[in-house]
Amino acid sequence: MVLVASNRGPVSYTLGEDGSLTARRGGGGLVSGLSALGQGAGTWVCAALGEGDRAAVARSGPRLPAADTGGQAVRMLDIPPGTFEGAYNGIANSVLWFVHHLLYQTPLEPVFDTAFEAQWSAYAAYNAAFADALATEAEPGAAVLVQDYHLSLVPSLLRERRPDLRIGHFSHTPWAPPDLFGVLPDAVAGEVLRGILGADRAAFLTRRWADAFAACCAATLGAEVDWGSATAAGPAGARSVTFGGRRTLLGVHGLGSDAEFLRKRAFEPDVDERLAALREQIGARRTIVRVDRTELSKNIVRGLLAYRRLLAGHAQWRGRVVHVAFAYPSRQDLAVYRAYTAEVSRLAGEINEEFGTADWTPVVLHVKDDFARSLAAYRMADVALVNPIRDGMNLVAKEIPVVSERGVALVLSREAGAAEELGADALLVNPYDLAGTAEALHRALSMPDEERAARSERLAAAATALPPQSWFLDQVAALDALDRKG
Ligand code: G6P
Repeated sequence: MVLVASNRGPVSYTLGEDGSLTARRGGGGLVSGLSALGQGAGTWVCAALGEGDRAAVARSGPRLPAADTGGQAVRMLDIPPGTFEGAYNGIANSVLWFVHHLLYQTPLEPVFDTAFEAQWSAYAAYNAAFADALATEAEPGAAVLVQDYHLSLVPSLLRERRPDLRIGHFSHTPWAPPDLFGVLPDAVAGEVLRGILGADRAAFLTRRWADAFAACCAATLGAEVDWGSATAAGPAGARSVTFGGRRTLLGVHGLGSDAEFLRKRAFEPDVDERLAALREQIGARRTIVRVDRTELSKNIVRGLLAYRRLLAGHAQWRGRVVHVAFAYPSRQDLAVYRAYTAEVSRLAGEINEEFGTADWTPVVLHVKDDFARSLAAYRMADVALVNPIRDGMNLVAKEIPVVSERGVALVLSREAGAAEELGADALLVNPYDLAGTAEALHRALSMPDEERAARSERLAAAATALPPQSWFLDQVAALDALDRKG
């Protein structure tokens, strides 16, 4: 038996004005991964995220109806709103996310005062609610795959409750290096690390993030790190962290994009329609495409500033290129995200004012989430701009080359996990370097068609080498293997 635990589950509900509930199923690596186990296998434990979810749990109880989940067993936890707020918006998204993505701006931030302490208690309670639910759901000896920074205390809490289980933790984010992780109050830093070390395996998207985690364990806890043999270049199976008499193996599982799904979905009629509309708007001009959540770490503002430098410094592109920027709302409960969203719109408008002409709009910005339109933009992209400050992996960089029609030149931040696998054929940039990013955009736009197509083909091959199904099954197999060794 396999259990998955994550904050955001595979289904979400919206509550209509007439009180009706509509269930919407999401996608992503975990959903395809679990489906690889076979129809109906596994149980997913997640949190109720909004009023629709809460209403659904109130109506049907925590085990959601199969009709809403496509047969997937889902237990949705209705965490008290104040606890959820402190855990999710407070600790998870404003503290741990910030630390791992290097988003704090000193000297004014962060301030870890009494409000933070209240949030930390909420985070502990929220993690305990997950551990309780998992302990109830799991059959003897089951494998439990705990996801991400929302649930870093769950592995140790679950081990206390159910020592028979095989527990894995997976971080979808980068991991901060010790000097930056050390910003957290000592007690909290220690609890986060000890929480994850409650797992049998702690896994990451790249070796760089796994190494940073191990270095934090050594620096903060004085844990003993076995860095494995220098020749073991592949999965970090040989490496481990030992603390308090227990050993936790470190794993690396890079997540790739799902070629089969993308190649089908991107050529369905609704995508064709949106592609026609975009082509009509943009004409024969070149396109620089970006698609992100409006997320501070995605570095959308510096991307726009680099584009402005491109137009200012390489006047030949004026009138001949359009920056198609899709920036979809995310975490809008946080004031800093709302301010960032406003800044993205303001700057796009400013660039259009400065350079636009009667028949040319330099930036086409869309902020309303539309997956079919994103796929249409993927297909028409000449250049893809993916310039995060830091990113665990970044799947957009791994999706665009797969469906691009004419081959895409990828301008990619060297701080994205995807750079480890795509670095040979992408144009790598320092995400803070505006001049360097503008030059990379110029190079990408100027790349001969043949070179662009050849690079794009190699990017697509590298991007799909580890599809979500094997990414997931490999993790289950690694936990199974532990079991056999006892
Ligand atoms: C990242 C995190 C996920 C999270 C997603 C969307 O990819 O690793 O855990 O679900 O962002 O963020 P949200 O806060 O909307 O769930």
